[in-house]
Amino acid sequence: MFGRRSGESGGAMRKLAPVEPSQVAPNTPAVAEAPAKEQVPAAPPPQQQPVAAPVSDGRRSEEYYDVKTTVFNALIDTIDLTQLSKLEGAAAREEIRDIVSEIIQIKNVVMSIAEQEELLEDICNDVLGYGPLEPLLARDDIADIMVNGAAVTFIEVDGHMQETNVRFADNMQLMNVCQRIVSQVGRRVDESSPICDARLPDGSRVNVIAPPLAIDGPALTIRKFKKDRLTLEQLVKFGSITEDAKTILEIIGRVRCNILISGGTGSGKTTLLNCMTAPIDLEERIITCEDSAELQLQQPHTVRLETRPPNLEGEGEITMRDLVKNCLRMRPERIIVGEVRGPEAFDLLQAMNTGHDGSMGTLHSNSPREAISRLEAMIMMGGYSLPSKTIREMITGSIDIIIQASRLRDGSRKVTHITEVIGMEEDVVILQNLFVYEIQGEDENGKILGRHRSTGIARPQFWERARYYGETGRLSQALASSEQVDENGNPLGDTNG
Ligand SMILES: Nc1ncnc2c1ncn2[C@@H]1O[C@H](COP(=O)(O)OP(=O)(O)OP(=O)(O)O)[C@@H](O)[C@H]1O
Ligand SMILES: [Mg+2]
Repeated sequence: MFGRRSGESGGAMRKLAPVEPSQVAPNTPAVAEAPAKEQVPAAPPPQQQPVAAPVSDGRRSEEYYDVKTTVFNALIDTIDLTQLSKLEGAAAREEIRDIVSEIIQIKNVVMSIAEQEELLEDICNDVLGYGPLEPLLARDDIADIMVNGAAVTFIEVDGHMQETNVRFADNMQLMNVCQRIVSQVGRRVDESSPICDARLPDGSRVNVIAPPLAIDGPALTIRKFKKDRLTLEQLVKFGSITEDAKTILEIIGRVRCNILISGGTGSGKTTLLNCMTAPIDLEERIITCEDSAELQLQQPHTVRLETRPPNLEGEGEITMRDLVKNCLRMRPERIIVGEVRGPEAFDLLQAMNTGHDGSMGTLHSNSPREAISRLEAMIMMGGYSLPSKTIREMITGSIDIIIQASRLRDGSRKVTHITEVIGMEEDVVILQNLFVYEIQGEDENGKILGRHRSTGIARPQFWERARYYGETGRLSQALASSEQVDENGNPLGDTNG
């Protein structure tokens, strides 16, 4: 077979390829031992003492790892990794499965078919993929994977944190997996550069922070990329917004309001931003700037830009600010900034102010009011010695709408505010809520009960824009009907309470 070493019987022709992290299983003890075994015949003696079966009860036992290491070492001895790396994923997997099955037989490992399958999968994942993370990466229901050192891995599913039984052999194996992930985007993570952002081939966003900064072993955080991106319809189905709020968001997106999406970590900002781009006309030229490309725009005339961290010598960094500035020379009609977190805020506001209506960005903050002060602080941090009032005027002149996303304590994600930035009164920025989510209590299962309601504003500030786009009918209907029904469509009495 192809990946199998030539000269299996003697071992004289066997030569191990240099051990590259991208080729070798992240199980370092096995790899480290492999060269020493060059001296012994490849085929293990046929009569071996039976090896204890691995215990497969979710959280794997030490014996499981012992058996795995034994089989793994024999595998490394038998296959030629350079040849194997030339095979297609499926063929390589098949090859490894064949050899591992043989090794299990020869070594006389006592195990059930199911246990054998588990071991086979595990070893394939180690050699070809991201080791113990593979089963988690294959699941589409997981939002985040959080590895806190070799022994502890959490996931977020349906808004809830769960501890998993995924475990790495040791921190070295975990570090090798991290290295393998980041090396695919040409980066390195080690003691000298212990922080690294990367992206998996499927688009998932990855952050690694390694020792000595991470005290208990490498911390790896993955925001899983959703293959089927969420749409506004689905957000309605999940109860994150109501049908009327959806209509209002669609109109806001279409009529080229400048939008800021505000929210805490993992509150659904990027998802909302993605949704807000759906109503954009197909002819519009859109330029997106992101730290790690997550947005999935459907419009054909889209240019995607990504920032770049400095290299090992500390050179070559391209910041968000560089991208936003460059955007302006690319004849954009809309500029979309994945996350505004620094001095690029100034450039984005400038762009919004100067004919790039319909630009959007997200920002970390807990309320629309806080979003304004965060924006102000970012501009001040950029070294502009402008009076506060001038900065606020600039903000109110640029941003039309703030949409607030929140992750509630029951794990559900809601749009809690659709707020207009009206203007200034003296030194104070005036905001006007169009739509709010009110928490009313919680049921016996801890699920939060509440309702979305319109605040009774019949003519929002962007009314004229809506008229220009022929959307006033839809807009006033959505605003009026959400005053009269709750999120389940039931009639409400007092809606302004
Ligand atoms: N309304 C929603 N209902 C259910 N799941 C959601 C909703 N919005 C977002 N999610 C899921 O929550 C996770 C986090 O969403 P998202 O990446 O949009 O958050 P974020 O605020 O941009 O996070 P970060 O601050 O890390 O950038 C994703 O897996 C996403 O699919
Ligand atoms: Mg995000």
